[in-house]
Amino acid sequence: MTSRFSLAGQVAIVTGASRGLGFEMARGVAESGARVYMTARGVEQLEAAAAELTAAGLDVRTRAFDLADADACVAAVSEIGAAEGRLDILVNNAGINAWEPLAQATTATWDRVMGTNVRASYVLAREAARIMVPRGYGRIVNIGSALAVVGRENIAAYVSSKHGLAGMTRALAAELGPHGVTCNMMAPGYFVTEINTTILARPGYEKGVSSRIPLRRWGRPEEVAGVVAFMASGAASYMNGHVLVVDGGLTETFVLPVDGTGV
Ligand SMILES: NC(=O)c1ccc[n+]([C@@H]2O[C@H](COP(=O)([O-])OP(=O)(O)OC[C@H]3O[C@@H](n4cnc5c(N)ncnc54)[C@H](OP(=O)(O)O)[C@@H]3O)[C@@H](O)[C@H]2O)c1
Repeated sequence: MTSRFSLAGQVAIVTGASRGLGFEMARGVAESGARVYMTARGVEQLEAAAAELTAAGLDVRTRAFDLADADACVAAVSEIGAAEGRLDILVNNAGINAWEPLAQATTATWDRVMGTNVRASYVLAREAARIMVPRGYGRIVNIGSALAVVGRENIAAYVSSKHGLAGMTRALAAELGPHGVTCNMMAPGYFVTEINTTILARPGYEKGVSSRIPLRRWGRPEEVAGVVAFMASGAASYMNGHVLVVDGGLTETFVLPVDGTGV
């Protein structure tokens, strides 16, 4: 690895790192040399995930808290910052979705999705900036979705949250950029993880989605590790306010069904 991509000596927080995409992001950032604080609510799964990375020789720590608790978010960032004397990287990865046709949607769902995906990311970014700005360096990477750039039916709260997070990414890029802190978004397409349990249970869904993706398959969680490690590194020094879609080409192309019904 060239020093351009090295995160040696740096300290990172990756939320939602106990499984799925966040686990692979934590692995990627730690493999590049950073000490990574992995967060989630479920202690058992979080500790098991950290143990796996520690066994692989990586420098990881854990911090369990609920992103719905703003005070806990503030405490986590400030305590890590105080213990380490620095915070270089924040990856706002943890997120939830909710499939609900608008007619049946509840306000509680809206609040829950917005609270986890947007409000917590905002609070964590604000607290991280309080450490990063005085040091003149920082990388904030928000994890969006292809649904941060396009819409779809039956998941309006989630689409709204990810579009909101994209807006916040651009706002923070403008505000923190003069202080040497960048803010970008990595926007995944379809990956096989727990968040997609509902749609993966639908007969034919996985294959149907694959037929519309130029790479003809869903993403593998490990395929986000290097992308986020790059975005967190010095190699991405002039990238700011950007939404980087990682979806096998799904949103950049217009692939119609290949079963004879398309053109
Ligand atoms: N997988 C995909 O296809 C896909 C596509 C587009 C975007 N994304 C985005 O990528 C991110 C990661 O998704 P994923 O597929 O890896 O999901 P996942 O497998 O469900 O993992 C979610 C992670 O977030 C944590 N989390 C959830 N709610 C939390 C809360 N209130 N407080 C603290 N931690 C919480 C979970 O741990 P606990 O439950 O123990 O708290 C877990 O570690 C999300 O932002 C998601 O929207 C995923």
